[in-house]
Amino acid sequence: MQSSPTPPDVAADAVVDFDHHSDTFNLNQHAINAELRQRCPVAWNQNYEGFWYASSYAAVSHMARDGDTFAHKYEPNADDGVDYQGEMGIPRPENQPALGIGEVDGDYHLALRHALAPFLSPGAVDKMRPFMEDRAHHFLDQHIEKGEMDLVLDYASPVPAILTMKLMGLPLANWQLYATLFHNVMAVPQDSAEYTDAIAKVPAMMQEVLEYAATRRAKPTDDLTSFLIQFEFDGKRLDDEQLLNILWNLIAGGVDTTTSQTALTLRHLGTRPDLRQQLIKRPELYRTATDEFLRYFSVNRSLSRTVTKDVELQGQCLRKNDRVIISWLAANHDENEFERADEIVLDRSPNRHVAFGLGPHRCIGSHLARVMSEVMVKAVLDRIPDYEVDVDNVHQYLGNPAMTGLSNLPVTFTPGAKRS
Ligand code: HEM
Repeated sequence: MQSSPTPPDVAADAVVDFDHHSDTFNLNQHAINAELRQRCPVAWNQNYEGFWYASSYAAVSHMARDGDTFAHKYEPNADDGVDYQGEMGIPRPENQPALGIGEVDGDYHLALRHALAPFLSPGAVDKMRPFMEDRAHHFLDQHIEKGEMDLVLDYASPVPAILTMKLMGLPLANWQLYATLFHNVMAVPQDSAEYTDAIAKVPAMMQEVLEYAATRRAKPTDDLTSFLIQFEFDGKRLDDEQLLNILWNLIAGGVDTTTSQTALTLRHLGTRPDLRQQLIKRPELYRTATDEFLRYFSVNRSLSRTVTKDVELQGQCLRKNDRVIISWLAANHDENEFERADEIVLDRSPNRHVAFGLGPHRCIGSHLARVMSEVMVKAVLDRIPDYEVDVDNVHQYLGNPAMTGLSNLPVTFTPGAKRS
């Protein structure tokens, strides 16, 4: 971890020193964020060559909305003198494609969002609901007679992988590869053999996605990939790199995020029978409860931005080329925005959480994620309502500041019957 001298115009009480990749930070993150929100909601961290860290709802919302000053794009050789770092955190992971939607800005980004909207609108997602329910129950059926299963590996990981592949039009037969790769890249330690193995599969998977796109280029259907192949911006079709980066962003966004959200929700409900009973007795609560779990866990904990021009924010002077981490998790636990912010309130309303981000880059898959998570949680409470979590054997991964989730979630329950 490299540190750098604090810039002269940063006041001493705005300087912080934590390693956001460390267990110490992650295990105490709520307390550290609460102290920062009080003391200095836009703070300067000297580690990793220096970056700003935004922890209040007001600062995070401001930065997320002002995409011109706080840029997303990844463009290390830009000709305007800004070293755009992209949004995947500090330091940026190597050997992975840039995010074709999350790390582009301006008119091209807007045109892409506009074009993709019909595939991810509430209406389009609602049409996918029966398929989601069918897959959720299918994976429960595989284990329901045994009375034990792993709610991550046997359930919350496969279902979103299959749904995302279906959305893209990708052949479903290979779902295991997609589910395992994205889960392992996030969930296992970066010095483990599983991680090396998962990363080693990325080029082959990218190749497979491109080959699939080539088949759609030759013979388009009505799926999202065929649509992107025909999409034009400024009179030109997308080149292979743009296409791959967009597909990669959709797959990476869709596959393991909802897995984490559902896994953390099910673990929590597994240890809080009162909340579980409320949802079972009053299913109308799912609508607000799903958003409350999104707020509370904020599985996409933080993302980064590049400052494009000198700007003052909350008493701090940020300079062109500075890097910023915005913490969705910290913003979502800000007492100034949410009463009883550290509690789960199933009927919380209004709930202006930023678990899906905010502004021009707000999560394009938010409707899909909400419905997927709700469907998966409800299917578990309907079919195995008395599940018990083997808490000693659950592992939450924390080292990646962009994402948290559970590696596994072993449970036991009263055996039941498969669906007829
Ligand atoms: C619980 C599940 C999910 C969470 C918590 C989540 C969270 C987020 C967040 C915080 C952002 C960044 C917003 C910003 O930088 O301002 C984002 C962007 C994005 N998400 Fe999601 N996401 C989830 C599910 C999904 C799904 C299912 C998809 C697949 C369709 C998806 C695709 C994307 C894409 C493509 C972007 C980039 C959008 C843009 O930059 O314009 N996400 N997501």
